[in-house]
Amino acid sequence: MPLLRVSPRADVRLLTSFLTARLSTDYATRVRSLYRMYPPANLLSEQSTYLNVGYWETGSESYDEAQEALAGRLAEAAGMGPGDTVLDCGFGFGDQDFHWLATRRPHQIFGINVTPHHVAAARARARAEGVEGRLRFQRASATDIPFPDGCFDRVVSLESAMHYRPRTRFFAEAFRVLRPGGVLAVADIVPMPGAGPRTALGCPALDWVKQTVDDRNWHDRDDYAGKLETAGFRPVRVRSVRDRVWDPWIAYVTRTVDHPAFARRVSSLYRGILRWGMSDRVQLGRDLARLDYVLASAVKPDSSA
Ligand SMILES: C[S@@+](CC[C@H](N)C(=O)[O-])C[C@H]1O[C@@H](n2cnc3c(N)ncnc32)[C@H](O)[C@@H]1O
Repeated sequence: MPLLRVSPRADVRLLTSFLTARLSTDYATRVRSLYRMYPPANLLSEQSTYLNVGYWETGSESYDEAQEALAGRLAEAAGMGPGDTVLDCGFGFGDQDFHWLATRRPHQIFGINVTPHHVAAARARARAEGVEGRLRFQRASATDIPFPDGCFDRVVSLESAMHYRPRTRFFAEAFRVLRPGGVLAVADIVPMPGAGPRTALGCPALDWVKQTVDDRNWHDRDDYAGKLETAGFRPVRVRSVRDRVWDPWIAYVTRTVDHPAFARRVSSLYRGILRWGMSDRVQLGRDLARLDYVLASAVKPDSSA
């Protein structure tokens, strides 16, 4: 008998979350509802529980590999290494933290996240793998970081800062909790220069941008660098990696949603929502052309004078 991975109850939760993410007047509720739509049983990735769009070297790697590669690029941008104390903001299910612990050997990683089931899942995994002393996850917002000044060597955020209200408050908080010489690294979604307002996006697959990206975060990569500098960081580097992100990601999603193995793996409601969201491929292409994807790194100067 095939393993039934999704229950009718999960479908009711999916539908409720889908509607709440669209209709709630409360921003925080919309963000939480967006991520309630993606429990581990309803994910585009196959093995991992990453929630990012991936960094695609060849376009033919697996989604899991592409997502891990993006985590690797971010750790590289942060200069994460042995002995570091790291803060990861918006950690999802925490996959990248387990990966970094194994590959970069930091002393400890603290994770903060506003989505309760992400915190619970990451904690449970850390306990199960016996690393709960080195990976510590808690519920908190990146715009109000519950740690004292100067206590981290690295602050990172992997495809989460577009949600922060606003992102500049996170920059200020990251600056505060970094030690002098510490580094902030962010993988983030911003509009292309001259992309127009968020409301111009027309494809339902990208409705989440209208519902869960703060308007104050809708600025291009040059402004991004300027805002990091305004927070006190120097030097600052913001580079677009969009060519390694959007086209290969959408190619992967397009071939996956119609694949029988995917249909067996996820709920048909989830697959139906995905297919409906992407049904106008011309509009989707136009919308994606408006999106940039940046990797930013910024140093808190040794002397703030
Ligand atoms: C697209 S997911 C990325 C998750 C993970 N970094 C990954 O790559 O798999 C965005 C994450 O940001 C979290 N998030 C959204 N707003 C947040 C906030 N203000 N503070 C902390 N986390 C937040 C969400 O709960 C979610 O876990």
